[in-house]
Amino acid sequence: MTIPYPNIQPVPAITPVTPPSGAPRPRVTFLGTGYLGATYAICYAELGYEVLGFDVDADKIAKLNAGEVPIHEPGLDELLRRNLAAGRLRFSTDISEVADFGDVHFICVGTPQRADGMGADLSYVEASVTSLAQHLTRKALIVGKSTVPVGTAEWVEQLVGKHTPTDLGVEVAWSPEFLQEGFAVDDVLRPNRIVVGVKTEWANGMLYAAHKGVFDLAATEDREVPLVVTDFATAELVKVAANAFLATKISFINAMAEVCEAAGGDVTQLARAIGYDPRIGNRFLQAGLGFGGACLPKDIRAFQARAQELGAGEALRFLHEVDLINLRRRTRVLQLAADLLGRRSGPAGPDFSGTRIAVLGATFKPNTDDVRDAPALAVAALLAKSGADVHVYDPQGTENARRVAPELTYEASMNDAVTGADLVCVLTEWADFRNADPVVLGELAAGRKVVDGRNCLDSTLWTQAGWEYRGMGRP
Ligand code: UDX
Repeated sequence: MTIPYPNIQPVPAITPVTPPSGAPRPRVTFLGTGYLGATYAICYAELGYEVLGFDVDADKIAKLNAGEVPIHEPGLDELLRRNLAAGRLRFSTDISEVADFGDVHFICVGTPQRADGMGADLSYVEASVTSLAQHLTRKALIVGKSTVPVGTAEWVEQLVGKHTPTDLGVEVAWSPEFLQEGFAVDDVLRPNRIVVGVKTEWANGMLYAAHKGVFDLAATEDREVPLVVTDFATAELVKVAANAFLATKISFINAMAEVCEAAGGDVTQLARAIGYDPRIGNRFLQAGLGFGGACLPKDIRAFQARAQELGAGEALRFLHEVDLINLRRRTRVLQLAADLLGRRSGPAGPDFSGTRIAVLGATFKPNTDDVRDAPALAVAALLAKSGADVHVYDPQGTENARRVAPELTYEASMNDAVTGADLVCVLTEWADFRNADPVVLGELAAGRKVVDGRNCLDSTLWTQAGWEYRGMGRP
């Protein structure tokens, strides 16, 4: 049963509007062609919009114009080439071209963790909005998509006011995204909701027109995409609240894993059993090495920092615990490795000198080449720091991993990594690892000892093949 949410706040009506460029549908631009902007630009062209993507990185733009996706994301290459060929999609480093072209400009630049604290670094948002605003010559809508601290949309509005003449009537809106790497194409074309923060009927109408392709596609597939129209602050908060919830759910089950480890329970069975309750649900209840990536870790920290500034720090104090539980999982892998290899832990942690360890997985999750804040790579680096000779294999992430952790040895295949290893640690649940034959690997390894950091292996199969198996939160 779905409980209808009462719309307690009056929001601007959706009325049809004509795009300022005079085009029949709004022309859309995406500023920042990283993960978010590139995926959106390509998918919006696929929905039939005329699209221009912008970035200050000339290399990236040249690659995209040549039909090369700079990231690994299933399905995106084909869509890029198809839409470049159809003439609906272009990329440019020229901000005046972007300003001339667009009716709706989506800000998709990164908001990394600040070097000097937990808050978000808004310098890319400031730079992109300022340069765009300075080049606008007619009315347009600037829409924030980047994940930002609450209050940013109001600040962007002031920035725009400072850099554009008032008579142009340039407006601002906020519309968070909920892309999951590995599913990003579908998440843009078939989102489970659209959230917009707007102040005026014109902005609401223009944003509706800019999303109409999504609603139309849903209608042809007999689906509905719920639309939540709200104020700036709520729209900004929706994104961080969603990520905080997901992070909390993962850390909750990892906390249960810790208790299972102490009490002799099995967290995988526990997760299954509680997940059947529809109020809890079984998704994001996979205990293991914890969450990483470009979003969850930094977003929960930035959220706490912002709440503290607003005087609501106490409300989010639990997120500090969520972070700590998550980081403790990495230490747990080291403990299990020490246990299997018979190494004692001193005050500086275990000493693995003289051992060779195969690390399978470097990315923060499977089906991506992204190693940002990847627990797998962090553990590989910790093992190496503790003296182990670490050999890493990842199906897609090697190139990125080598840049972040050049001190590790990277292998071209799973078999190469496992050959001669005293211990195998499976730290990202790629299908290749889940489906690997423990008998074959057992013949290559020097010792049949395995840490399953993602609880993704069939423990019975591995044990039968003679491996000493350790999972996370399992007896
Ligand atoms: C996340 C949100 O899901 C997405 O909505 C938001 O827009 C961006 O951040 P993403 O970073 O792509 O997306 O990764 P996600 O699939 O959410 O996984 C995050 C991390 O949690 C990964 O490291 C994954 O391995 C881990 N995870 C996920 C678990 O450890 N257990 C789970 O049950 C689920």
